[in-house]
Amino acid sequence: MDKITHLQIPGPTNIPDSVLRAFSRPNIKHRGEEFSELVTDVIEDLKDLFMTENEILTFPSSGSGTMESAIVNTLSPGDKVLAISQGVFSNRFGDIAEDHGVEVERLEVDWNSAVNLTKLEDRLKKDVDKTIKTILLPHNETSTAITNDLAGIREAIDNANHPALLVVDAISSMGAIELKTDEWGVDIVVASSQKGLMLSPGLSIVSISDKAWEAVKTSKLSKWYWDYESVRENIHNGRFPYTPPQTLYFGLEESLRLIKEEGLENVFKRHATLATAFRKGIRGMGLELFAADEIASNSVTSICIPEEVDAKAVINTLKEDYGIIVGGGLSKLSGKIFRVGHLGAIYNVDIIGILSGIEMTFTKLGYNINLGQGIKAAQKSLLKI
Ligand SMILES: Cc1ncc(COP(=O)(O)O)c(C=O)c1O
Repeated sequence: MDKITHLQIPGPTNIPDSVLRAFSRPNIKHRGEEFSELVTDVIEDLKDLFMTENEILTFPSSGSGTMESAIVNTLSPGDKVLAISQGVFSNRFGDIAEDHGVEVERLEVDWNSAVNLTKLEDRLKKDVDKTIKTILLPHNETSTAITNDLAGIREAIDNANHPALLVVDAISSMGAIELKTDEWGVDIVVASSQKGLMLSPGLSIVSISDKAWEAVKTSKLSKWYWDYESVRENIHNGRFPYTPPQTLYFGLEESLRLIKEEGLENVFKRHATLATAFRKGIRGMGLELFAADEIASNSVTSICIPEEVDAKAVINTLKEDYGIIVGGGLSKLSGKIFRVGHLGAIYNVDIIGILSGIEMTFTKLGYNINLGQGIKAAQKSLLKI
C-alpha cells in the first residue's frame, strides 16, 4: 500500500477528494458553449473570493507568471516602482520588474517583521514629484510566514496622498487570509491555484482595478502571452486567446463550490483558529516561533530550529517516520527555520497530528521537547479552555 503522506508545505497543498474527481473529467472543446459557460460562472465566483467588483483574468501559469503579468501590463521601461523587500518572494517581485528595465527601489524590511506603515508613509511623502508608479508587496510573505497589514498599507498610501498603484502578491493568502480587494483599494491582486484554492499548480488569477486598466493603456513593456487586453476581450465570452488549462477549471469550479458551501468568512476563521492552535502547540512543546503573533501568518508557520538540532534531520524524520512533508528555510533562513503550511483543506485533527509528529521527531533526534505538551496546548486552544 502507498504510504499516506500529509503535504504540509506552504503549497502545493492537499487536494480534496471531490476536486480530484473533478480533475478526472475528459477534455471538452475549449471554444465550445459548455466551457464558455463554465468560465463565465467561475469568474463570477472568483470575484466573491477576491472580494471585488474588479475584472478577473486567469492565465495558464504558476504564480510567478502572473506577478510578471502585473509588471509588463502596467509599466514602461524606466518607470519607477517601490518594491517591498522582506523575504524571498517579495524580492522576486522586485527582480522581475528590474529584469524588464523598470527602476526598482527596494524598501528593506527586517525578515522577521511586517511592513512598517510609518516608514512606508514617510517614503511616499518624500516622493513629492510622484515618480513612484507602483508599490509591489506580498500580502503574505511565505518564506518568513509573515502577513502584512493591507488595510494599514492603504491608509499609509492615502495619508501620503500618493497615486501609486498598489500591486499585491496574494499567492499564499488567497482563500486562507481575508483580502478585501475593493475596500482596501488593491489595484492588482495576483493569486494561483495550488495553495488556498486546493488545486494542482498551473492556473494563476489576477484582479485588475479601473485605475490599473488606465495604466494598461499607456504601458509600453512588451507582452503577447500576458496581454491583459487580449485576454479580457476573450474572457468576456468565456474564451481565451490560447488553449486554457481546462482540467484546472473543472477543479476550480469544485473548489470554489467547497469554499462557498463553507462560507468565505468561515474559511478565514478556520485558518485563523488552526494557525493560533498550531502556534500555541509549537510554544507548548518548547520550540520558538520565527514571527511574533501579531504579524504571524494564518496560512504558514515558521519554526526556529534550535542550534544543536540539524534542520535536514528534522525535515527527513518528519517525512520518513511520520509521512509529514514540511518546507525548509529559504535563502538566508536555510537551516534556521522550518515551515509548516496549514492552508486549504486542513482541519482540527490535522493540526494535532502534525504537532504530534513534530514532538516525536524532536524527541527522536535527542532534543528535550515537552512531549505531549504541544498537543495539549493546541487541544486547549481548539476547545477554547
Ligand atoms: C508569496 C508567494 N509569491 C510567489 C510565489 C511563487 O509562486 P509560483 O511558485 O507558483 O510561481 C510563491 C510560491 O510559493 C509564494 O508563496
